[in-house]
Amino acid sequence: MSAPSPDTARDHAAAAITAALADPAKRPIVKSFFDEATFTVSHIVHDPATKKAALIDSVLDFDPPSGRTSHASADALVAHVEAEDLTIEWLLETHAHADHLSAAPYLQEKLGGRLAIGHEIVTVQEVFGKIFNEGTEFRRDGSQFDQLFNDGDRFTVGTLEATVLHVPGHTPACLAYVIGDAVFPGDTLFMPDYGTARCDFPGGDARTLYRSIHRLLSLPDEARVFLCHDYKAPPGRTEFAWETTIGAERTGNIHVREGISEDEFVTMRTQRDATLAMPRLILPSVQVNMNGGRPPEPESNGTRYLKLPLNTL
Ligand SMILES: [Fe+2]
Repeated sequence: MSAPSPDTARDHAAAAITAALADPAKRPIVKSFFDEATFTVSHIVHDPATKKAALIDSVLDFDPPSGRTSHASADALVAHVEAEDLTIEWLLETHAHADHLSAAPYLQEKLGGRLAIGHEIVTVQEVFGKIFNEGTEFRRDGSQFDQLFNDGDRFTVGTLEATVLHVPGHTPACLAYVIGDAVFPGDTLFMPDYGTARCDFPGGDARTLYRSIHRLLSLPDEARVFLCHDYKAPPGRTEFAWETTIGAERTGNIHVREGISEDEFVTMRTQRDATLAMPRLILPSVQVNMNGGRPPEPESNGTRYLKLPLNTL
């Protein structure tokens, strides 16, 4: 039997978490914002020493019946940045979201920062570029973003060290960001009592998700985990929640806790996904988010239009 291949990215992230757990100066302050319309959590993560910050997974408010966008959610992030006197260095996307539009371009204009996503966004652009019948003017090279991260890439937020882990499964481009002792897994994990995200979007794969999750579950138990969504967990929990720990996920996640095999997970996930309707905002969201959060260019009358492909998804 061959030895398991080394996982230097995971090992590096684990060592950085351990170092942060031992030194409060290496731990970020995290302020989270919950958008009840889309059940999305945005996080502003800052280094207390320098007040440099990263903003993870923002929301552009969108009203489908009227086609109107607005900025109350994004403006709440701006207000926090201004009140705390933070400098935004990064606008981080964990993936191309299918349930809400990103406010990254709006926030970048107001706050600056580099817009980043996983390198595999190019796969999402290729697949959905076909679905939306985009012309050649839609670039499928990820150049709408300032930075495309690969597994194991490292960056800093002020003096805090951050590591990127590629965690495909929910989508091919999903990333988890590890900043100090805090892990931001996007949709790769939900609260322990809610479980995991669906894997049936184009490019998703339950087996791949299980393996990605187990990489995260091998990080130190005490690492803080900040999720991208919460839906409560009926019956039982009546409050929204988005912070947990690796240990709580490892021992208690209803879908992937210790002892649940890959095959058991894949069977459960596949059966459950077959019962789920498409997210309400998938067509507007992916169309905009795969383009760095930018809506299509205005037509000759000055109006921007979104497409709704019929009978495609
Ligand atoms: Fe998602």
